[in-house]
Amino acid sequence: MALSVSRRAASLKPSSTVAVMNRAKALKAQGVDVLNFGAGEPDFNSPEVAKAAAIAALQANQTRYIETAGDAESRQLLADLLTTRNGIPGVTRDHVIITSGVKMALYLAFQTLFDAAGPDGGPDRSQQDLLLPVPAWVSFAPMAELAGARIVELPTTPESGFKITPQQLKAAITPRSRVVLINSPSNPTSTMYTPDELRALAAVVDEAARTIAPNLVIVADELYQNIVFGSVPFMSIGSVPSVAERTITINGPGKSFAMTGWRLGWASGSGEFGKAVIGAMTKLQGQTTTCVPAFCLAGMRSALTQCEKDLETMRAAFAKRADLIYSLLSGLPGLKLARPQGAFYVFPDISAHLGKTSAGGRKLAGAADFAAALLDEQQMAVVPGEDFGTMGVRHIRMSFACSEAQLTEGARRLGVFIAGLKG
Ligand SMILES: Cc1ncc(COP(=O)(O)O)c(C=O)c1O
Repeated sequence: MALSVSRRAASLKPSSTVAVMNRAKALKAQGVDVLNFGAGEPDFNSPEVAKAAAIAALQANQTRYIETAGDAESRQLLADLLTTRNGIPGVTRDHVIITSGVKMALYLAFQTLFDAAGPDGGPDRSQQDLLLPVPAWVSFAPMAELAGARIVELPTTPESGFKITPQQLKAAITPRSRVVLINSPSNPTSTMYTPDELRALAAVVDEAARTIAPNLVIVADELYQNIVFGSVPFMSIGSVPSVAERTITINGPGKSFAMTGWRLGWASGSGEFGKAVIGAMTKLQGQTTTCVPAFCLAGMRSALTQCEKDLETMRAAFAKRADLIYSLLSGLPGLKLARPQGAFYVFPDISAHLGKTSAGGRKLAGAADFAAALLDEQQMAVVPGEDFGTMGVRHIRMSFACSEAQLTEGARRLGVFIAGLKG
């Protein structure tokens, strides 16, 4: 038999964004002035007090393995914050696990939730769907598929603010439904559900759980909780009492505190079921990454308790940039976009330009062609929408985690590119 990798690894979809980003890096290495709008992380440095606390912890030799779920002090702090700031009931430190980034928290959660007993009591994978509002961040679907889930996309549009409606969710729920994913503020659209909208979605889940989908769980990715711009207040869907026990809330310091490279995240649950999920995730972590570094946790605790000012400085900068990019791109012909309410992305619909040919002679069949031509002809890197869900072929994602000068120059280059399109 020929040498091969596992079917699981082979069947993972490669990211369509990687090609553009690799080409952008190669051009930059050749000295080309590439403007990169692909960044999925803040352009700020981690807070000084967080760095100082981590350095002090290293010097105090906090360099050994710790408890699998994270040390008691850190988990207690997170349980307190989830209770007081997020309003989630029934969270103790035994309902919290600290993981290597939010990605690992999601990965462990999906491994724990999918392939559990189906509604008929049997371990039947074919009954387990991830209900995924799209556009959605690129890794939700592949990670759920690795856990054996089937992906059911719930499409949204710029006109609907990229949000699903309670009716749409209700219509999508079947006995196969296992997880509903809520990501507010959203990557890649930067829109947010209002508290009333979240309560309405929670009511649909509660009702379905009593009838056709008793094993239904909400996974709420709240990574952009602190990067919100004012018009819509942030709310945790896990704070709605009727769904608290069936909600796993996921978060981390990466985006809010500019600590992406520290690789920290956490997941929390509520009540008996929440404890069981976190316990199972902890077993999985014990057999994989073991634990997160203790000295990173020292930095995280400082960030969470002493960095209100840094948080506000970064939030205010993102708010200003959100206004700028929205007004610049809204002025360009043929782009439809929603006003960013949180996070740091815009996701314009470029479909008015599909089917045209670029000034450099490239036929634009979809977002990947649009992004490739924009890079070659205007030295501007954006992420094509294909990986964010089926309808992503009509969109590009631009991050505004960059300077206002870069945003202004990017909008100018995009304008020149669009003006040169033929057909
Ligand atoms: C919605 C969302 N969830 C999770 C992640 C991954 O976060 P982390 O870097 O903490 O693993 C990202 C990163 O871009 C994201 O946008």
